[in-house]
Amino acid sequence: MAKTIQAIRGMNDCLPTQTPLWQKVESTIERVVSAYGYNEIRMPIVEMTPLFKRAIGDVTDVVEKEMYTFEDRNGDSLSLRPEGTASCVRAGIENGLFYNQEQRLWYMGPMFRHERPQKGRYRQFHQVGVEVFGLQGPDVDAELIMMTARLWKELGIDQHVRLELNSIGSLEARHNYRQALIAYLEPHIDVLDDDCKRRLHTNPMRILDSKNPDVQAILGDVPALADYLDDESKAHFAGLCEMLDNAGIAYTVNQRLVRGLDYYNRTVFEWITESLGAQGTVCGGGRYDGLVEQLGGKATPAVGFAMGLERLVLLMEELQLTEVRRRVDAYVVTMGEGSMMAGLQLAEQLRDQIPTMRVMNHFGGGNFKKQFKRADAVGAAFALVLAETEITEGKVTIKDLRGGEQQTLSTAEAIEWLQAQM
Ligand code: HAM
Repeated sequence: MAKTIQAIRGMNDCLPTQTPLWQKVESTIERVVSAYGYNEIRMPIVEMTPLFKRAIGDVTDVVEKEMYTFEDRNGDSLSLRPEGTASCVRAGIENGLFYNQEQRLWYMGPMFRHERPQKGRYRQFHQVGVEVFGLQGPDVDAELIMMTARLWKELGIDQHVRLELNSIGSLEARHNYRQALIAYLEPHIDVLDDDCKRRLHTNPMRILDSKNPDVQAILGDVPALADYLDDESKAHFAGLCEMLDNAGIAYTVNQRLVRGLDYYNRTVFEWITESLGAQGTVCGGGRYDGLVEQLGGKATPAVGFAMGLERLVLLMEELQLTEVRRRVDAYVVTMGEGSMMAGLQLAEQLRDQIPTMRVMNHFGGGNFKKQFKRADAVGAAFALVLAETEITEGKVTIKDLRGGEQQTLSTAEAIEWLQAQM
């Protein structure tokens, strides 16, 4: 036998047994974002490498260690997208979406990061992202967070996620804070691990969320970013907190929350669950008012977030929220001369008249017992039986596969009866 070829580590198939839950999550998200008037945008999966370097930042984990970068046949450096914000901004600039217009956008699709795979962390994973352009007040930030809160409710996970919030201020405030942070950390340089040492002068704020306990231990008296915030950022943050309070959305302010991508300013937030172990962040985002201009567009305020679909699906499985709509409503069982064609026609007629109904025909012959067993196996609610008597009399026997009762009706009556059950 030929040697089998396996999928790439960290890149998973979504099998037919898993897709119903994925579809439920995806369609719920689609319904919720549409309810806020957001429009879908679709971007390519591959972009020019400098886009991500410029947007996400040269000294971030994503750009330094995790991108799938390759040279194409023209010698251009291309990368599989590690996230969607950079592409979304690029697409908006390129297509003139930001000229004197507000944009409320969302997207869904695969992202790629060469991280060490573990539960909840993959090399190909899927995000839904939401991005708003052209609005600078805290009201939009509040709406985005309210949108996520509504989504958690609809998915049934709202009791299992909590919101962390912070403001990282303006570029200038962050610059001042950086200096203070470096001055504080330099005397402790011996305690810093290699990663932190490397970041000390390039990206010291990332040291704040280091997982290393020795590093965490020296952070006790670290200067607080809040003390360096500019007045406008303070007012923006206070405005956001007030709106969340009024909307009844609970949150904790986490001064150490800085996020792993460089483009943020002011609001940053994460939704975290304790039910998934180390990879507990199901959604993260914030403001990035400087990014459009930084990528060559006209200065445009922006805010957004993205959530990891694998993590949402895992959480729902963990909480046993896996009930999905059944795949098949009715299974057509046939027996005898001419019954197969009659079965196909009945199924077509049902699909014409009850568009939401899912009908499956039995193929491959076999006695009633075998056919009913198949009907059970696919999870059908009803079997529709067409045998010789039914066919000569123009009738259908409907067998309820859960209760066991059966009734024989004319085709028209049967359709009417089934319609009432859907
Ligand atoms: P991020 O925090 O890098 O932000 O990713 C957002 C979410 O994607 C994470 O909270 C997590 O649920 C999921 N995720 C990230 N990496 C992986 C992975 N390796 N495996 C599974 N899930 C993962 C962004 O990507 C920003 N673009 C979000 C944003 C949009 N900010 C503003 N607008």
